[in-house]
Amino acid sequence: MEYFTPNDTDLKASRIAQGCMRIAGLSDSDIDRLVKTDLDCGINFFDHADIYSHGLCEEKFGGVLKREPSLRDKMIVQTKCGIIIGKRYDFRPEYIRACVEGSLKRLGVEQIDVLLLHRPDALCEPQEVAKVFDELKTSGKVRYFGVSNHNSFQIELLQKYCSEKLIFNQLQFGPAHTPMIDAGIHVNMKDKWGVVRDGMTLDYCRLHNITIQNWSPFRAGLTSYLGNPRYGKLNRAIKALCAKYGISNSAIVLAWILRHPAKMQPIIGSTDCERIKKMCAGADTVISHEEWYDVYRAAGNKIP
Ligand SMILES: NC(=O)c1ccc[n+]([C@@H]2O[C@H](COP(=O)([O-])OP(=O)(O)OC[C@H]3O[C@@H](n4cnc5c(N)ncnc54)[C@H](OP(=O)(O)O)[C@@H]3O)[C@@H](O)[C@H]2O)c1
Repeated sequence: MEYFTPNDTDLKASRIAQGCMRIAGLSDSDIDRLVKTDLDCGINFFDHADIYSHGLCEEKFGGVLKREPSLRDKMIVQTKCGIIIGKRYDFRPEYIRACVEGSLKRLGVEQIDVLLLHRPDALCEPQEVAKVFDELKTSGKVRYFGVSNHNSFQIELLQKYCSEKLIFNQLQFGPAHTPMIDAGIHVNMKDKWGVVRDGMTLDYCRLHNITIQNWSPFRAGLTSYLGNPRYGKLNRAIKALCAKYGISNSAIVLAWILRHPAKMQPIIGSTDCERIKKMCAGADTVISHEEWYDVYRAAGNKIP
């Protein structure tokens, strides 16, 4: 497992992170096994959100730490706030404060290592966000801050007021979901790939040393494209690389993501320990320049 230091922090983060959105239905022993498998594989970064199963995911994870408190020092715990499901987004200080208190309690930790604003609030007052970030930092409740699903100017605006550096932007990215790079390949074209959907956030984040964490690397829509006949061409291209490199299909996908020079941090949502072991065993494989484009095109993308 490769480790990296996000911008000006003292974090040593694993290149692959475990997403905890799907852990609510696991038994205590299954979650214990999942977290231990992650740590054994070198994954020390765990991504949460207050809304995952209405807080149950954080609570279940907190159970792992209650049963084995020594694990806390081995991990970086990140959570997200700001979404009120199906209704609105809320970055007002009182709401962010309440979210942090709730997450601290459910996770059973004294400090959240990284707090992300989950999705942009149209009514966001950046000065107010800056104040509450300072307060959370000073009180020791949160160490570092970032955003999720934000475009470049939204980050720029927040950063103008925040003394705390925004270190992450979490966005969906994987071979079957590439708008972040499509527009950069189709500059000034009238085709559908040329549409800039994200304010060129990938280039912005690279320029400002903000690590992109990519969510749902194996998903297209709500389900996985891996093994899905609707994505036959993509699966065949991935399978050919599995045979060449002798690693699993999900490991090939991670290798494809990590081949991009932005050096993203994929957040895997699998709770299948055997699958995770295979992903981590193969993810440091370096595929070639040509192979990266072969997979990109096999996903249905055109090259102008
Ligand atoms: N910021 C945001 O807005 C946002 C949004 C969504 C998610 N997230 C974060 O991203 C994390 C990952 O999200 P996710 O779970 O949707 O994404 P994912 O890692 O792409 O997983 C999606 C599904 O792919 C399946 N899968 C993986 N490898 C496979 C294979 N080789 N064959 C068949 N199926 C395979 C997994 O099934 P198994 O469980 O059976 O392995 C899982 O159910 C979440 O836990 C959360 O932390 C963030």
